[in-house]
Amino acid sequence: MADETRITIAIDGPAAAGKGTISKAVAQQLGFAHLDTGLLYRAVGAKTLSGAEAVDAATSLQSEDLEADNLRTPEVAQAASKVAVIAEVRAALVDFQRAFARRLGGAVLDGRDIGTVICPNADVKLFVTASAEVRAERRYLELSGNGLDVSRDEVLADVKARDERDMNRAEAPLKPADDAVLIDTSNLTIEEAVDMALATIKSRRQ
Ligand code: CDP
Repeated sequence: MADETRITIAIDGPAAAGKGTISKAVAQQLGFAHLDTGLLYRAVGAKTLSGAEAVDAATSLQSEDLEADNLRTPEVAQAASKVAVIAEVRAALVDFQRAFARRLGGAVLDGRDIGTVICPNADVKLFVTASAEVRAERRYLELSGNGLDVSRDEVLADVKARDERDMNRAEAPLKPADDAVLIDTSNLTIEEAVDMALATIKSRRQ
């Protein structure tokens, strides 16, 4: 059994599969800290849209960069998945993520490569997925609910383009770790998905 105070939970999966919602709820229930690693790539992507060079942006990333108010837009999501193929960008973000994963009190990290590359020894690994159409519909409702002027077609195209790029890149491609538990949220409510994640974590930790 791992040191109780340094439990790491890795939650990976494709765009808009529900990782963020599940991770936040799981972290809250367990009293663990949560890191949305996608935000790191989004912050780097956002900087490139303002003219920065990707590797410079990643190596000089500051915590206030994670608070920019455009990070959730589809434009920044695309820019994030473009910088995420660059090995030097990924390397610049590794130490911060690993340190976070080992923090006292337990940590939940969500992303694409947490169970495979960042924390291959994580105590529990989940791979959260859903059909592209379901994911795009959820993301459309989220973005339009936040007042963004987006169409369903545009959001579906964004999700599919990022999935394609994320799965086929040479560096840390999106794929389930061999020991990850798959959770398909296509036909689950948020509550059901969170309950399933919590039950899986409980059984894996025993
Ligand atoms: O919220 P959503 O699932 O749409 O995306 P995100 O988790 O914020 O990630 C944005 C982009 O960052 C992804 O499409 C990936 O290309 C990249 N990313 C990554 O490569 N590795 C991670 N651990 C997290 C995100």
